[in-house]
Amino acid sequence: MLIRHRRMKWEASMNNDSLSRRNVLKIGAASVIGVMTGKLYAAEQIKKEMNMAMGKNIGSMSAFTGVFENGQYTLPPLPYGYDALEPMYEAQTLKIHHDKHHAGYVKGLNSTLSKLADASKAGDFAAIKCLSIDLAFNGSGHILHTLFWHSMKPGGNGGQMPAELKAALDESFGSADSAQAQFAAATKAVEGSGWGVLAFEPVAGKLLVLQCEKHQNLTIWGVVPLLVCDVWEHAYYLKYQNNRGEWVDNFMKLANWDFAAQRLAAAKTCAAELRK
Ligand SMILES: [Fe+2]
Repeated sequence: MLIRHRRMKWEASMNNDSLSRRNVLKIGAASVIGVMTGKLYAAEQIKKEMNMAMGKNIGSMSAFTGVFENGQYTLPPLPYGYDALEPMYEAQTLKIHHDKHHAGYVKGLNSTLSKLADASKAGDFAAIKCLSIDLAFNGSGHILHTLFWHSMKPGGNGGQMPAELKAALDESFGSADSAQAQFAAATKAVEGSGWGVLAFEPVAGKLLVLQCEKHQNLTIWGVVPLLVCDVWEHAYYLKYQNNRGEWVDNFMKLANWDFAAQRLAAAKTCAAELRK
């Protein structure tokens, strides 16, 4: 309850010109709060939390427009056209990735929540282990893919990086170049399917590079993803086949550091509140 109270304080403190940053943080906060309150598997509770966290600003031009509407998770539109990231990321892969794979996680998440609600009504949690796995898998898949679309932009940042983000990377990794090298190396070395994640860890207030297996394994609870790179084969195999390294190198050229910087600023605000 303390965490929830602090989150409410934090929500109240956020100003109105940071809609995208606010929505992004709320996704992570709602997920963490769902776990920490011990009600992870109560579907209605999670939907309520997420609705509280995200619903108010749906319809605004934020990074999370179209992620959750009318009580259901929804497939958000891409922030650019299918061919906007050519030639690093070809249109056919982008279309299948977004329209089929991401859509599948959205469908799986809603279906799992419905099954959890039925189980709760019936008082029958015989399938809770399977449903819990499905919830984490599809929920993390939905959130990470939403972040992924915004983690790239046509032309990338053109070699530029916002000063505040660069300073944070310098402090946590020695230099921004070292941070990018670690991000690329860790992403290439993900075992099996998963993600490379640049994240803000609010306890120490530092940035970390994490590997994520599948969509949900090997995380640190409470971190806020700033930039993510998908290294599931469906993300790159049509063009790059088994050459994951070339895909990651090209992702780095598309990296949207402005997006990462916005999320870092919001994460710092949230962390300051949580540490009070
Ligand atoms: Fe993917």
